[in-house]
Amino acid sequence: SPEQLRSLLISRIRDVADYPKPGVTFKDITPLLADPLAFTALTDALANRCAEYGATKIVGLEARGFILGAPVAVRAGVGFVPARKAGKLPGPTLGQNYALEYGAAEIEIHADALSAGDRVLVVDDVLATGGTAEASVELVRRAGAQVAGVCVLLELGFLGGRERLAPVLGAVPLDAL
Ligand code: PRP
Repeated sequence: SPEQLRSLLISRIRDVADYPKPGVTFKDITPLLADPLAFTALTDALANRCAEYGATKIVGLEARGFILGAPVAVRAGVGFVPARKAGKLPGPTLGQNYALEYGAAEIEIHADALSAGDRVLVVDDVLATGGTAEASVELVRRAGAQVAGVCVLLELGFLGGRERLAPVLGAVPLDAL
């Protein structure tokens, strides 16, 4: 059941206090990745969403969105597109800037990675402020494709990412498992 899946996954995520800086509690997914039952259950659940939403591509956000998204793409039988931190992709790219707590960041996809008919499921581990997810949605749309859904493992509700994404997503579903 969804509740059993959720409690299995939550039990495999470790809270690390004061990382990467004092006062922040880091959600460490490495125990989940090391548990083949939990990792498979997560992959299957996300692959089901992929099919349900009729997605034709997975866009995974660097870095943990790569780890989670790639097996989903294989399981669902769709292509995987990495959204990377700026400067890492070799070909012509589309880039999107976004604000961080202090400063700014940029993610990129290859300019030819998506086409007009594509429906994209965006996958990442954590939704925090929503800046990364918002930038990825803008990128997918600027590439001419449609966003079919955004799926994360964990949502840090107190940071307001869902509220930030609401006007951007409209009727597009945002799922935290
Ligand atoms: C983390 C996380 C998400 C993002 C969420 O990645 O994996 O991608 O932050 O934060 P936001 O909702 O406030 O944008 P991080 O920037 O630590 O990059 P990394 O995975 O490459 O370490």
